[in-house]
Amino acid sequence: MLQLFFGFVFLSSVSQLQSLTGAQAECPLQLNPQRVVVRYGGSVAVNCKTSVLHKGIGWEAIEGAVPMTKNQNLITWRVLNLTEWDIKPFCYIFYKIGDKNQCIEELPVAVYKTPDSVSIRTVIHRGPMIEGQQYELQCDVHDVAPVEYLTVKWYKGHTLLNQTTFTDTIETPVNKAVTLLIRPNRADDGAQYWCEAELDLGAEGPQPPPKNSSKPLNVEVYYKPQHSSSTETIIKDDKVMLDCTVKANPAPDYTWSSDHLKEKISSSVIKSSALSPGKYTCTTSNSLGRDSKVFILKSTGTRHTFWTVLIFLHLLVTLIGVI
Ligand SMILES: *[C@@H]1O[C@H](CO)[C@@H](O)[C@H](O)[C@H]1NC(C)=O
Ligand SMILES: *[C@@H]1O[C@H](CO)[C@@H](O)[C@H](O)[C@H]1NC(C)=O
Ligand SMILES: *[C@@H]1O[C@H](CO)[C@@H](O)[C@H](O)[C@H]1NC(C)=O
Repeated sequence: MLQLFFGFVFLSSVSQLQSLTGAQAECPLQLNPQRVVVRYGGSVAVNCKTSVLHKGIGWEAIEGAVPMTKNQNLITWRVLNLTEWDIKPFCYIFYKIGDKNQCIEELPVAVYKTPDSVSIRTVIHRGPMIEGQQYELQCDVHDVAPVEYLTVKWYKGHTLLNQTTFTDTIETPVNKAVTLLIRPNRADDGAQYWCEAELDLGAEGPQPPPKNSSKPLNVEVYYKPQHSSSTETIIKDDKVMLDCTVKANPAPDYTWSSDHLKEKISSSVIKSSALSPGKYTCTTSNSLGRDSKVFILKSTGTRHTFWTVLIFLHLLVTLIGVI
């Protein structure tokens, strides 16, 4: 406590001095490394070295302070179990060059903690989504620090959709909720959305940066049937097949109408060699809507017609001859 108090008084006198001289860069102290990234509860060691004659050198910190010493040129700030989020250690030296006799070198420390959990959910909505409507997804990142280095990324399958960073400078762990607006279409039926929390702590931090992802959120999308073309012409041969099959969710129902159909058909495909040429309309529907498609069945009949006409003409000529 006494040390802390001393450090505080000392720091304020030093900053006064610095504001007078404006020459922090000339402080004859070298820190190695110059910046540290430590997991909460992890260990850290940083050297402070000087090559000038001095009257005392030391480390001031809430944990691991090194009392002032006169006999050494290298002292180490060391903590085995760092449990302080907002630790601002600095190395100081008392020396004499002209009017200046003391200075400090601050050590930037980032104490981090990966989130306890990352989860994804839909906001308000439950159950299948409807094509073309907007929905909100939320990603909850629980107990993470420091949020300044956090990036929350949204994915659909392997595709990155969006990402968010934070400007808060709070050092202690926080919870963060990020939302994403989506407007799913039929291609998104069965898609998996997920989010990921990444702590990118810089070159001094763990490599690769720690990432924690949510479980995937499986999205079911309802959409109405939609045929790629509204008419199709089919030339009649031995095997006639009218295929009206189309994707829709929920699975659609089919109804056929035609002057040539006697019975009701509710399958998506008509397979028959006995269909007469003509127009067949298929209507596909589910709870979201309906779509129709017209099949025009034409007989192969060009040659057939030709012979019919020829025989008819022949008969006509014969008849005229007889008369
Ligand atoms: C580190 O310190 C915390 C709080 O003082 C304690 O709960 C934890 O057990 C310590 N961990 C180790 C590895 O010593
Ligand atoms: C991505 O997220 C940012 C907020 O972090 C938002 O302003 C932006 O509109 C989003 N972009 C898309 C395409 O959703
Ligand atoms: C988060 O990810 C880190 C490594 O990237 C891992 O050590 C940690 O256990 C993960 N946390 C959870 C809650 O899965």
